[in-house]
Amino acid sequence: MLQPPSRPELIDFHGVSMTHYFTDNWETVQNFQARPDDILIATYPKAGTTWVSYILDLLYFGQTMPERQTSIPIYERVPFLELFAPPLFSGTDLAEGLSTSPRLIKTHFPVQFVPKSFWEQNCRMVYVARNAKDNMVSYFHFDRMNGVEPDPGDWSNYFQKFMDGKLVFGPWYDHVSGWWKKKQTYSKLHYMFFEDLVEDTGREIDKLCSFLGLSPSAEEKKQITGEVQFDNMKKNDMANYSTIGVMDFKVSPFMRKGKVGDWKNHFTMAQSEQFDEDYRKKMRDPTLQFRTEI
Ligand code: PPS
Repeated sequence: MLQPPSRPELIDFHGVSMTHYFTDNWETVQNFQARPDDILIATYPKAGTTWVSYILDLLYFGQTMPERQTSIPIYERVPFLELFAPPLFSGTDLAEGLSTSPRLIKTHFPVQFVPKSFWEQNCRMVYVARNAKDNMVSYFHFDRMNGVEPDPGDWSNYFQKFMDGKLVFGPWYDHVSGWWKKKQTYSKLHYMFFEDLVEDTGREIDKLCSFLGLSPSAEEKKQITGEVQFDNMKKNDMANYSTIGVMDFKVSPFMRKGKVGDWKNHFTMAQSEQFDEDYRKKMRDPTLQFRTEI
């Protein structure tokens, strides 16, 4: 029987906090050969990656390969490019093994780490961002339940680490801002928000379709919108990560709450004020605005 791995240390990697699981395969990842029709789904961890991955998978393959939905977990359909945990996972091997067209590929890299072939091939990219407070709460619970993440410590400890950018994939602030800035010069990037998806999933699917040049029927869209609602994804073993051994759902499930505003159940008043003050100093671009409630 496989032993659960010990929790990794955070390392400084080209100025970004990472763990070895996402850097051990660096050369291969950087030399990954993207194809022009590859679609890269990029996020800071816990911003809605799985949700958007599932939406894209259904848009592209829901009709043509329905068996996929009941037999292949989402993390195999949409490989996590930089994840390297042999013998179980190699994101590049999984991506290279995909027989679908397009290939849907997930990354949590800050924009400067994206392998150059994705830019050279002018690939479409979908970035999902989530407000910092809810993102922090979701990441905290994920780190508690996921044995291959660094030990999160207690909430107040974690709160400080988030503000210091000492979490895997570095500061949330740089991540969302770096990708936002990229949008100004790279037209094939669709930047979307978790809060908008919660507010009106159908509207956001419409926007995605127009970015991707897809025109599903009204019925298909309705079906997809229903299938990707939180309660349905939570029940769906091919989407809810219940088939991954390193996660302890008794501590916290992967599909935890799926809400906007859960931060209010975690932040004290003082923490919220301290956070907001620090946030104003770090997030100076007035064009990038998040909603912490809807
Ligand atoms: S990961 O590990 O980075 O890939 O995680 P990621 O998928 O980005 O984020 C997980 C959070 O997204 C929520 N989620 C959803 N919310 C609403 N509706 C749907 N369909 C949905 N699917 C996933 C999930 O519950 C996690 O957020 P929290 O706040 O922890 O519940």
